[in-house]
Amino acid sequence: MVFGIGAKKKKNKHKDVPKELEAFWMPFTPQRDYKKNRLRTLVSAEGMYYKTDDGRTMLDGCSGFGCTNFGHNHPKITEAIQRQAAQLDFAPNFQFSSPVAFEAADRLCKAMPEHINHVFFSNSGSEAVDTALKIALAYWRARGKSEKTRMIGRLRSYHGVNFGGISVGGISYMRKNYASSLIPGCDHLPHTHNLDHQAFSKGQPKWGAHLADELENMIYLHSAENIACVIVEPVAGSTGTLVPPVGYLERLREICTKHDILLIFDEVITAWARLGYATAAEKFNVMPDIITSAKGITNATVPLGATFVSDKIYDAFMQGPENNIEFLHGYTYSGHPLSCAAALATQELIDEDGMYQKAQAIAPVWEDALHTLKDAPYVVDVRACGLMGGVQIDLGDRPDDQKSRAAEVFNKMFFEQDITMRYTVDVLGLYPSVIVNEDEIGTIVDRLRKVLNEVD
Ligand SMILES: Cc1ncc(COP(=O)(O)O)c(C=O)c1O
Repeated sequence: MVFGIGAKKKKNKHKDVPKELEAFWMPFTPQRDYKKNRLRTLVSAEGMYYKTDDGRTMLDGCSGFGCTNFGHNHPKITEAIQRQAAQLDFAPNFQFSSPVAFEAADRLCKAMPEHINHVFFSNSGSEAVDTALKIALAYWRARGKSEKTRMIGRLRSYHGVNFGGISVGGISYMRKNYASSLIPGCDHLPHTHNLDHQAFSKGQPKWGAHLADELENMIYLHSAENIACVIVEPVAGSTGTLVPPVGYLERLREICTKHDILLIFDEVITAWARLGYATAAEKFNVMPDIITSAKGITNATVPLGATFVSDKIYDAFMQGPENNIEFLHGYTYSGHPLSCAAALATQELIDEDGMYQKAQAIAPVWEDALHTLKDAPYVVDVRACGLMGGVQIDLGDRPDDQKSRAAEVFNKMFFEQDITMRYTVDVLGLYPSVIVNEDEIGTIVDRLRKVLNEVD
């Protein structure tokens, strides 16, 4: 047998799937259906818009995937990446380093709450989460409390796809294939969503703070001396923009403090102006011990995950002989020069262009516009927070994922209305960039209404 370019005879394994599309096993995508029928091919982008391979201009209602927070292809970020690539393409950070990693870490930590001054870099939100969980466990060990190992997540939470993340995560279909292999000793708080009490709330729902008290029950059951951490998304993103009820996050913080349990905010989607602030912690004025971040940290240009930790945590590791590695963890690309250059340029852009102020100014326009869909067909709830938005629809007798009413809306929005969005089960997800203007918001909402009127 001869190996080499062109040597392998490619066969059409799946009827009607073009051969050249077979190799790429796409993430979270029905391979055969997509490759046969539904190519949504994006070939270039600028600001709020994508261009498709068939020459259409798409209004990006989803800022990529809730990650191009400041619009696509920003020249300042592109130039910074190009400069860095030409100067130093890669330097390892295991016992070597490059200035740009220190600079990026310092700059990013300055945007964090007062008590958070250290950051561990990785490559994605999933890695940032698993790093956070490992830090939590190793922290308690460093403090001589190695029995504190239980980790508490929440139903309907998404913490990425790695084993730690799905173990504390609260989405059943993400977990079921791995059920008995998940990390033992994880519990889940109830989620905070309730249509009867909260439907069409503006701002934070008034009902639901008491759901945090379930943590007291878990502590009663397992004892605080066995519990390492609680991890939540301050606003749950992937399962449909679940905004925390008034007082809920405060209550979680209180209980964690009372029982000496670390509180982790997974801010992979909520950080960097998505809610009008650097972090949800700042917006809601609730201070966790660890914050995870990714997505908008580089405006999605180069992958970067970041796990920010409090001084208390970092200092607990800094003991023992100085020439011992304190935390045996890291990725080849932790602090990659290109991602760090992109992060620095993103921070500059945020400061120079007043991105937090811009986000705060446009967020109420976004929320009001989205709420006009209240009387559109099938709509059972509208939720918004900062530049996150979820429109929950009744799937009726069409719950089947790829054939559901939500899937049809998603497809019609793309193929007929030139708008990109996403959906999870029964929630239509829209997260425009901070640079979205009122006209573009109007266009997104009007076209969504039109589609909701058309589907059956
Ligand atoms: C809250 C949260 N955590 C973790 C992740 C996983 O991030 P990634 O896809 O970069 O691994 C996501 C992604 O959407 C997220 O929203």
